[in-house]
Amino acid sequence: MTKIEIVSGDITRLQVDVIVNAANSSLLGGGGVDGAIHRSAGSELFSACKLLNGCNAGEVKITPGFRLPSPYVIHTVGPVWKGGGNDENQTLASCYQKSLRLASENNLRTIAFPNISTGIYGFPKSLAAKIALETVRDYLANHIEIERVLFCCFDEENLALYKGAVSELVLFEKVVSEQDIILTSKLASIIWNEHYVPMIGQEQVDYMLSNLQSPEAIEKLINKEGYQYYIIYHHSEPSGYISIRQKGNDLFLSKFYLIREKRRTGLGREGMRFISLQARMLGLQRIFLTVNINNLNSIKAYKKLGFQIDSPVITQIGAGYIMDDYNMSLQLL
Ligand code: APR
Repeated sequence: MTKIEIVSGDITRLQVDVIVNAANSSLLGGGGVDGAIHRSAGSELFSACKLLNGCNAGEVKITPGFRLPSPYVIHTVGPVWKGGGNDENQTLASCYQKSLRLASENNLRTIAFPNISTGIYGFPKSLAAKIALETVRDYLANHIEIERVLFCCFDEENLALYKGAVSELVLFEKVVSEQDIILTSKLASIIWNEHYVPMIGQEQVDYMLSNLQSPEAIEKLINKEGYQYYIIYHHSEPSGYISIRQKGNDLFLSKFYLIREKRRTGLGREGMRFISLQARMLGLQRIFLTVNINNLNSIKAYKKLGFQIDSPVITQIGAGYIMDDYNMSLQLL
């Protein structure tokens, strides 16, 4: 699982593949972290930046790190806080997302961010921390090539805010490795036994687990049938899993399960936000799923998330077993 780390201190001393600079649009240096990076990198950085022809807010450009311990610097320009009505949130999110994308493109696996825009540019620190952590979390879910992301906090207030926010952060980790596949299968066994036995009986649950959610079955669904599985981590604990697949112009939500003790903790809404984000990234406008007609709690929860019941559907699942479901769908705005 990619590690998000909160560290304190001077970003110019960190030894990572790339550090991110909170620059201004000229890219010709300034105060704050920008000044510190230029001082540590030396005058060659200034010469390299002069050739870049500036940078717009929310955008990114890369240079060598020269005398810095990190071989590269990604320069980004954060938004100046003007009260929140000038797309400041989206611009700040873009700084983090485009920095990560540029790091991936350059095969850089460890990256350190300062608390962009929270100094001279006056962005409220708590909101900036939330935007930074959620933007990075959403990127990492589909980019396991990024191994470590460090948030380098220079002041005590940011340090406390980031440590508090990261402990509440819900992580979604794409299932790729064999141990993740085995973990997903174990989660399925825990959840299906506590959740489905009262509805469809132990025998059918056992049949479905051994045929549809075994490590071999999940591996086949991922590698042969185009499903993407994600494990949901909350407080660093595996708390559930999601399985999605594009079907035509829709996103099929095949599985979305939480372990009992993690239900009614807001993870459902967080998970749905993540699923909707995956649909939007694929350019899809509609999410559909099937839910057992006796699964009243899930039907109610999906309705609360905006899904509507479309039609009943009977699914043959083998060995004479059926799933008596409803089709439900959500039209994304
Ligand atoms: N290491 C890590 N973080 C640092 C360092 C450092 N050496 N120096 C300052 N910071 C922190 C600040 O405490 C703040 O939390 O970086 C964060 C961003 O603050 P600024 O550097 O002021 O950047 P920003 O708010 O994005 O404003 C950008 O400031 O430096 C100028 O040229 C820059 O005009 C641009 C503006």
